[in-house]
Amino acid sequence: MKKFSFIFTAILFLILPALVAPSCDSNRGNIIPYVKVDLYLLLYADLADMGIGSAKVISNAGHQGIVLYREADLEFYAYDRTCTRFPDHDVAVVEDTSFFGVFECPQCGSTFLLMNGAEPNSGPARYPLVEYFTSIQGDVLHVYN
Ligand code: FES
Repeated sequence: MKKFSFIFTAILFLILPALVAPSCDSNRGNIIPYVKVDLYLLLYADLADMGIGSAKVISNAGHQGIVLYREADLEFYAYDRTCTRFPDHDVAVVEDTSFFGVFECPQCGSTFLLMNGAEPNSGPARYPLVEYFTSIQGDVLHVYN
């Protein structure tokens, strides 16, 4: 009886949580390698081509590049392009040409909806794209972390 009780306890406290808990290898959430981001972009020059609701990719920033999303005239959001399913794959999401405001991981097919905080829209990723801070001073957009 004592032996049975020990086995039952072991299953309950050791084995079961390991089966139920998500593996840290399968989804590391918003943990991507840290890269200093400190960009200054001119609203009426660098971003003049961005209409409200549009997105723009800045390739040489962040871990895998940054996607900017313009929600309103003076409201921008900036996300790292690294897919959050397996950040160590170093795969950048790309614009889905058939769905407006959607970026997709070319490896796992996860899609992220920019107008919804870059939350996963479909596919295996469970965490949104990593977001950077944005602020506007005069006619300059600052993107930083
Ligand atoms: S990056 Fe490998 S799963 Fe999306």
